[in-house]
Amino acid sequence: MPLGKSIALWFSLLGFFAAPLLRAASADEIWWKHAVIYEIYPRSFQDSNGDGVGDLNGITQRLDYLKDLGIDAIWIAPLYPSPQVDFGYDISDYQAVDPQYGTMADFDRLLAEAQKRNIRIIMDAVMNHTSDKHPWFIESAASRTNPKADWYVWRDGKGPGQPPNNWLSTFGHSAWQFDPKRDQYYYHYFYIQQPDLNWRNPQVEKAMFDMLRFWLDKGVAGFRLDAVPTLFEDPSLKDEKVLPGKNKFGDPNEETKLQDNLPEVHGVIQRMRTMIDGYPNNRVLIGETYLPNVEELDKWYGGAKHDELQLPMDMMVGFEDKLNAAEFRRRINDAETKLHGSQPLFVFDNHDNPRTAYRYGDGEHNKAIDQMLATVLFTTRSTAMMYYGDEIEMPTTIPARKEDVKDPIGVTGWPAEKGRDGERTPMQWNSSTAAGFSTNPHTWLPVAPDYKQVNVEAESHDPASMLSWYKKLIALRRDDPAIHDGDMKMLETGNQRIVAWSRKASNGETVVVACNFSPDEQTVSLGKSRAKTLAASGEATPAGIDLNAVKLAPFGSLVAEVQ
Ligand code: GLC
Repeated sequence: MPLGKSIALWFSLLGFFAAPLLRAASADEIWWKHAVIYEIYPRSFQDSNGDGVGDLNGITQRLDYLKDLGIDAIWIAPLYPSPQVDFGYDISDYQAVDPQYGTMADFDRLLAEAQKRNIRIIMDAVMNHTSDKHPWFIESAASRTNPKADWYVWRDGKGPGQPPNNWLSTFGHSAWQFDPKRDQYYYHYFYIQQPDLNWRNPQVEKAMFDMLRFWLDKGVAGFRLDAVPTLFEDPSLKDEKVLPGKNKFGDPNEETKLQDNLPEVHGVIQRMRTMIDGYPNNRVLIGETYLPNVEELDKWYGGAKHDELQLPMDMMVGFEDKLNAAEFRRRINDAETKLHGSQPLFVFDNHDNPRTAYRYGDGEHNKAIDQMLATVLFTTRSTAMMYYGDEIEMPTTIPARKEDVKDPIGVTGWPAEKGRDGERTPMQWNSSTAAGFSTNPHTWLPVAPDYKQVNVEAESHDPASMLSWYKKLIALRRDDPAIHDGDMKMLETGNQRIVAWSRKASNGETVVVACNFSPDEQTVSLGKSRAKTLAASGEATPAGIDLNAVKLAPFGSLVAEVQ
């Protein structure tokens, strides 16, 4: 080979290998701004001891898989001792591990093994309520005068057999439960077995902050704060306004203004932020924040002060549940422009909602639609949160019969509300017994019937699979400077079928992204120059394209670097 050519080859090889390194994280880079956070529902991820229920050692076994996928952090849904009425969201001890998931030694090993792979662990902090079997509640319920008497929300009824007001539980029926020992009612926004703590009592805040410190001292990276907008209730206890019609539980439709998103919560969050800022390594507070609009969301960041949560979840983009291009654009752009420069956190899936194909699919293009939504998740400026199984397009498998339902909401609300079992089925690893989730064929929820085709092993050999698409997008997000932390600007702002934006790195590199929200092929102009295709879903797109006439397959998406 002539010298010139071989030098050129060496340089191009060097460029190839060095490209990812060029974007090597600077020491002061804040990890959660670029992270992919992966939610694990511990019952359903990997069973290591053959009891049909997932566990911590199972998660540890799968860390290499998560590393290979490109995950930066895992949020593990509650793993604490619990009567499991709401599958762990009813906690009876905040500083231990439920024996069915393992031991504290297993947790410590999981944490250490994750740290070796640079994967952070985020705990689920359930602070609105405890289990009714928590020793605090047992003590509180014992009398009106015990030291914990005021740790929960207790009130006298209006009269014999009459609760204090008309407030409803979001899990169905009255939010008040009578307790004969105290001859009083206690308040539960969720299930009867999930009594609300009284956050107006400073001892409750202290106990909860001590619990958070216990886990921070162990080295967890932060918390996902469960149901955090409902910590406070209006002390007036006035009735909620009744709206026309009935809800899915057959109760009257009511507002929740006096039960949800009360301003008092922000004081707690500011103090919590001060507390975690005292720890090194950028610990993070993530909120489960279903909110009506971006103005409310901004308050959870602390607005211009940025002194509350770093990452309250934006549920408005991912749970729009309609493929409406204009509305998606507006919501994405709101997160870009109306949050005082805070970091957005988009979420499309979790353990409480049917998966995206169920909510957005049209039956014919489900895979293309899921690929396009993944493009939105991974190539906007948002921190990306995903749910186990999204990467292989696991289905939503809703039980056909009431007697098979495990989720308490499904039991109370059947048939209008069939519960959340459908999105909690065991992870599909391969085509063997129980999809490789367990050696026991009797898993706590049945494995979805499509596991022989839809599983990690099969998809890892298929370049056209959802798993390959996820890996490609996650790698781009990590390695491409524009997608990693470039500025973001919406393009084609009047287009009713396409949502498009550009990302521009500080070195000037620009990437354009276009998503076709329609079932028809579309052609769109996104500029005058040529571009190099980095990733394209839908039909095959040539490696080099003319930005003036970009073709998008039905529900296709394209990520391309401007030349
Ligand atoms: C949150 C959890 C949900 C749970 C509820 C009560 O919404 O995500 O699974 O049932 O809080 O803790």
